[in-house]
Amino acid sequence: MSTGRLSILGMGPGDPELMTIKAVRLLRESPVVGWFCRHDRPGHARQIAGDMIGPDATTLRFAYPFTTEIAVSDPAYLMRMGQFYDDCAARVATHLEAGHDVALLCEGDPFLFGSAMYVFDRLHERFECTIVPGITAMSGCWSAAQRPMVHGDDVLCVIPGTLDEEALVAWLEKADAAVIMKLGRNLEKVRTALRRTGREARAIYVERASQPAQRCLKLTEMTGPAPYFSIILVPGREGAR
Ligand SMILES: C[S@@+](CC[C@H](N)C(=O)[O-])C[C@H]1O[C@@H](n2cnc3c(N)ncnc32)[C@H](O)[C@@H]1O
Repeated sequence: MSTGRLSILGMGPGDPELMTIKAVRLLRESPVVGWFCRHDRPGHARQIAGDMIGPDATTLRFAYPFTTEIAVSDPAYLMRMGQFYDDCAARVATHLEAGHDVALLCEGDPFLFGSAMYVFDRLHERFECTIVPGITAMSGCWSAAQRPMVHGDDVLCVIPGTLDEEALVAWLEKADAAVIMKLGRNLEKVRTALRRTGREARAIYVERASQPAQRCLKLTEMTGPAPYFSIILVPGREGAR
């Protein structure tokens, strides 16, 4: 019996109409569908999939063992997340070995800060894999904000907000344009780094791009906490036409 194929599907930033035709087809056809989520949430990628998952499909819900309880710098974080991804890969492999195709859903593009990468790393030498690229969250954000980002020879830097303030400053100083992801509790540290590098005034805050609760505003007008699904855009040079 031949083994199944693993398809990792980029689901885009939130609006199901921003999925590719290929991702929709593989999702509808797949007898097994998996996704990652917080233990207390349905999961962003699952919500995008809506009723596109076949009624008879077997579903695999991979709930993270923790979110912010253990610092990324703590060795326990890497160890426990490694065990978690080993378990996820083993569950996926069971279905592939039984000859069933598996679709793994991933918000945005799978290979940009996507959890499915860790399953891919563990399985791609054993099973046939297809990666379907997705529209990234940052594309969804700059389209929502209607803000051109990079012109000519501008350099765009994609920065995780989890970096410490000095590292944020160093990257921001180098970049013409920047995207800062993973805001959440990092917002005030990121704001300080933008202020220190003279970029706060042109920074745009975008929350839940392409979803019904989407918000876009100048960072200087944004108060209150930022949810996990938010990004700051620093457009490159203005008015290069
Ligand atoms: C683990 S990364 C996943 C990135 C995704 N694979 C991509 O291609 O964009 C999660 C981060 O993406 C950003 N994000 C994802 N969806 C978003 C959305 N609809 N609006 C704003 N930010 C979003 C947030 O910064 C969030 O912290």
